[in-house]
Amino acid sequence: MKEITIQSPLDMHLHLRDEEMLKLVAPLTAETFAGAVIMPNLVPPVDNLDSLHAYKERITAAQGEHKFTPYMAMFFRDYTEAELAAAKEHMIGIKLYPAGATTNSEAGVKAIDAVEPVFKMMEEMEIPLMVHGETHGFVMDREKEFLASYEYLAKKFPKLQITMEHITTADAVDLMGRYENLRATVTLQHLIITLDDVAGGLLNPHLFCKPIAKRPEDREALLQAALAANPSLMFGSDSAPHPLSKKECCGCAAGVFTAPLALPRLAQLFDDHGKLDNLQNFISGNAQRLYGLTPLEKKVTLKKTPSQVPAAYEGFGQHVVPMHAGEELPWSVTEIN
Ligand code: NCD
Ligand code: ZN
Repeated sequence: MKEITIQSPLDMHLHLRDEEMLKLVAPLTAETFAGAVIMPNLVPPVDNLDSLHAYKERITAAQGEHKFTPYMAMFFRDYTEAELAAAKEHMIGIKLYPAGATTNSEAGVKAIDAVEPVFKMMEEMEIPLMVHGETHGFVMDREKEFLASYEYLAKKFPKLQITMEHITTADAVDLMGRYENLRATVTLQHLIITLDDVAGGLLNPHLFCKPIAKRPEDREALLQAALAANPSLMFGSDSAPHPLSKKECCGCAAGVFTAPLALPRLAQLFDDHGKLDNLQNFISGNAQRLYGLTPLEKKVTLKKTPSQVPAAYEGFGQHVVPMHAGEELPWSVTEIN
C-alpha cells in the first residue's frame, strides 16, 4: 500500500476563532500539524501584546495534549517602534488586511502609503509582513489589482519579507517569482476548485471564500507551483470555520473549513500527479526555510486507504461543515508520532 511520512507539517495560515469554536477546531489542527500561523482577525482584533498572550493561552488550553505550536500573528495597525520591539519575539509576523476586505477586517488599513513608516520599522526589525492582497474592485479582479501594491512594497522595502496570503491567480504566481522578498501561501481549495464549483451550478456556500476561487488557468498555475514545491510557496489552509447558520443562509460568510482533511486530501492530490516526493517541502520545508522555523518534531504517516469525511464537526454547541463533507477520500492519516 502506498504511504508517505511527513515530518512536522505546518499550516502557514489558519483561523482558529475563539471561545466554543476554538475549543472545537483547535484539536483538529493540533492533532496532525506541528504548528500553524494563527490569524488575528478576532473581534476585537489581536493587535497588542496583552491580547496576543491571552489568545495564545486560550489556544494552548484548547489544543489538548497534542504537540503543536501556535505561531501568533498580530493584526496590522499604526504600531510604534516600542510596541514592535516588545512584540517581535512573541510573534511570527504582522497580518495586514485592507479595511473591509474579508471577515472581521473592518479595523484594517485604508491607505497603504499612510502606514509606510510601520513597514520601514518592520523591515529594519526583520518582522515579516503577511498581506490579504485584495482591492475593493470587481470580485474576480481584486487580487490582480492588488499585485501593483505588492510590487511597490517589494521594491520600496527590499529587506521586508512579504507573504502574499492565499494567492488565487496565475499572475500572483508570476509576481512571486520576480522578487526575492515576495513569497506566498496557497490553500487546499484553490488547488482543487474554480469559481464553477462555487457558483457554476447550484450555489455551494461551503466553497465560498475570500479571495473567491478563479479560472481554470489560475488553478492550473497554482497547482503546478505547489506540485513542484516552488521554493517561494507554502501551504496555508486558510481553514476558516463558520457556524452552519452563517454559511447556509442569506448573506453567507466567506471561509472554507478544511483543516481536518487537508493532509489526506493533499496526499491524494500530489499522488494523482506523481509528485508525492514534493509534498514534504510544500507542507513544511519551504516554510521552515522562509521563516527560519524549527518546528516541533512530529511524524505523520499517510496511507492510500480510504477515510470518511464527516458530514459535520460538532461539539461545544458548534456545528461546522467541512469541505468534502460526507465524502470518502482515498488517503488517510494512519499514524502520528
Ligand atoms: C477568512 C475568515 O473567515 O476569517 N475568510 C476567508 O474567506 N478566507 C478571512 C480571510 O482570510 O480572508
Ligand atoms: Zn484567512
